[in-house]
Amino acid sequence: MSSFRTLDDLGDVTGKVTLVRVDLNLPMKDGSATDVTRVEAVKPTILELADKGAKVLLLAHFGRPKGQRHSTMSTSFVQGDVEKVLGKEIMFIPEVMGPVVEQSIGILSDGDIGLLDNVRFWPGEEANDPGFARGMAAHGDFYVNDAFSAAHRAHASTEGLAHHLPAYAGRAMEAELKALDAALGNPEQPVAAVVGGAKVSTKLDVLENLVGKVQHLIIGGGMANTFLAARGVDVGKSLCEHDLTDTANRIMDQADHAGCTVHLPYDVVVAKEFAANPPSMRVCNVHEVAEDEMILDVGPQAVEALGDVLKTCKTLVWNGPMGAFETEPFDAATVALAKTAAALTEGGSLTSVAGGGDTVAALAHAGVKDDFTFVSTAGGAFLEWMEGKDLPGVAALKV
Ligand code: 3PG
Repeated sequence: MSSFRTLDDLGDVTGKVTLVRVDLNLPMKDGSATDVTRVEAVKPTILELADKGAKVLLLAHFGRPKGQRHSTMSTSFVQGDVEKVLGKEIMFIPEVMGPVVEQSIGILSDGDIGLLDNVRFWPGEEANDPGFARGMAAHGDFYVNDAFSAAHRAHASTEGLAHHLPAYAGRAMEAELKALDAALGNPEQPVAAVVGGAKVSTKLDVLENLVGKVQHLIIGGGMANTFLAARGVDVGKSLCEHDLTDTANRIMDQADHAGCTVHLPYDVVVAKEFAANPPSMRVCNVHEVAEDEMILDVGPQAVEALGDVLKTCKTLVWNGPMGAFETEPFDAATVALAKTAAALTEGGSLTSVAGGGDTVAALAHAGVKDDFTFVSTAGGAFLEWMEGKDLPGVAALKV
């Protein structure tokens, strides 16, 4: 793993202004967050710095205001949620630089925490304008990046600042990088990857990167239908990207050459309509899907066989559900395989790392979110990492 400066390398921070990039892009409903996992993830960094006497200035984006102030996208909307998780009051500062920020720093005591407004209100953020980064850096002594989930963006607060202040990885960033290194950077072999989700088109780069790195590629979700169609299976009226069957064949050839086994379901759960517990639901072999049926989940026999594959592996990286898990009973394969992975992790034979929007929801639904070795709080950044890309926010922290 490349080396990064962490909070352990920070000297005395008493009274020092520390700009901490966090990800407070929280899902909201009726004015409060429906999931505060991202705040919980950065809590250790914030409290460690505050306990050491730093003046902590939180820097974050919230939504996509495209370089303009937007009344519904102020970070003040998440202030209450952040305070609740931290168990501390914080000061909202409606700017990211200039006299208001300077005055606020003057009011903050050592160990106090300020929350700057949405950094994406200013066009210099997404443009990664060095002048904008310098303007923010002028208020700080140190820069700590604890927002792995925004590290795929080369923005002023995620990348640029690292060039203007001594830069450190926060505790959450450190944990993400360690876990991701253990999963794909330098994993114990054999490695299995579970890739699910609706569409192949959104995960082409992920699949192409994985076939060269893992011994077992388990494909589930709607995207498995495209691979089945590529193998000549008639998938009825299932979700399927028929225009990508050549691509699917190419990926399977690449896997063959690399010694990676691609696992596709051989039994499936089908129905004539997509609804909870539809009367037309049945389990069948993939070669028996009728013209008016659609595949909605991986079948029980395949799930058992996939569980056996996991038992032979030392490392698992998981992104995407195996079926239409939000509608019962099409959550069965995702839940069963996630439980197997959790049990193997608990038994000490498997290092399991998962990430990506739907994945975390799926693992939470299976009741095993806390039983994986590591569950990333990142969506897009996790996918780009699975694609093998260098994330600009991470690269900027390397020493
Ligand atoms: C996320 O929510 O995945 C991150 O905060 C990144 O947000 P973005 O896709 O708007 O850059």
